[in-house]
Amino acid sequence: MFFRTPQERSVCEHSFGMTPLMTTVLPIRFPPPETASDAPPVIQLESVRKSFKLPNGENFDAVRSLSLDIYAGDIFGLIGKSGAGKSTLLRLINLLERPDAGQVIVEGRDLTKLSRRELRDTRQSLGMIFQQFNLIQNATVADNVAFPLKIHGRHTRAEIKARVQECLKLVGLEEKSESYPAQLSGGQKQRVAIARALAPRPKVLLCDEPTSALDSETTHELLATLRDINQKLGVTIVIVTHELQVVELLCRKVAILEQGELIEQFAIDGPTGPRLTVLGREIDALVRRRAREAAESLQSGAGLGEGSSQRRTQIQGVAYA
Ligand SMILES: Nc1ncnc2c1ncn2[C@@H]1O[C@H](COP(=O)(O)OP(=O)(O)OP(=O)(O)O)[C@@H](O)[C@H]1O
Ligand SMILES: [Mg+2]
Repeated sequence: MFFRTPQERSVCEHSFGMTPLMTTVLPIRFPPPETASDAPPVIQLESVRKSFKLPNGENFDAVRSLSLDIYAGDIFGLIGKSGAGKSTLLRLINLLERPDAGQVIVEGRDLTKLSRRELRDTRQSLGMIFQQFNLIQNATVADNVAFPLKIHGRHTRAEIKARVQECLKLVGLEEKSESYPAQLSGGQKQRVAIARALAPRPKVLLCDEPTSALDSETTHELLATLRDINQKLGVTIVIVTHELQVVELLCRKVAILEQGELIEQFAIDGPTGPRLTVLGREIDALVRRRAREAAESLQSGAGLGEGSSQRRTQIQGVAYA
């Protein structure tokens, strides 16, 4: 069950005005939150390149002249084999890695041209979460979430306290505010990381393998939370993963990387065309299988009388009534 305690359930209902989440996330495709139809991409990567110096002095091209547009409200997956350059690409978006060439444009501003101070301000719009959570171990949950607000230095203590509580409510962890990371489960740690990333009210959440350290059930719960954040708060999500089911369950679009190059990208619910990559074909197969199973379940659920509408809701995986 998503909520571990009745308190977590009521807190989350209060925050999002919703009824409880289901444990399983089925791939119902919500339209992206409302944005102007002619709005430019929130993230534009223009011919970005990144190479690293190897110990033998040679350069290794981790990202090779790659261009990519991500629109506001999207849930965008980045997949590829280990070493394909996914994490490097994600870190180029918030300039944790500075590109050797090309432009990184976020909300119309080229981050590579910003001063340190401007970049620090702009990074408030770009929250990030990681596979290993990256929490400060000797700080409480509340202090971890407060961290990005404190370093920004523009908020009063009362404002920070209120925002921390708000964010912990969003992820259903209000009652853990005085716990330390070591006292939390993996799923709870990732929720704290999400709360911390959301604290400065980002437009975009960058996620690097956020579910790789979690078991299957916890993965499903976390995907439901990420979907809520996208739906209810309108936060654009870019997620690196090697789990195809994460793409299939959560994403609206996906880009496939090989050896630092973007080989193909497509909408998960779009027409299944010829795919260039094995991963692309595997995603299509997953989507088709899930659609078939959902159709079969609907058929076998037909004529159940009063129970049928409830069953339909479960099949669609609607998180909220
Ligand atoms: N700081 C660095 N110095 C040298 N090489 C690096 C550095 N960071 C990444 N690389 C190399 O760049 C390539 C891409 O790395 P990256 O971490 O982006 O891959 P990835 O697709 O995220 O892989 P994984 O799925 O294993 O996390 C790899 O070959 C990696 O060894
Ligand atoms: Mg990686």
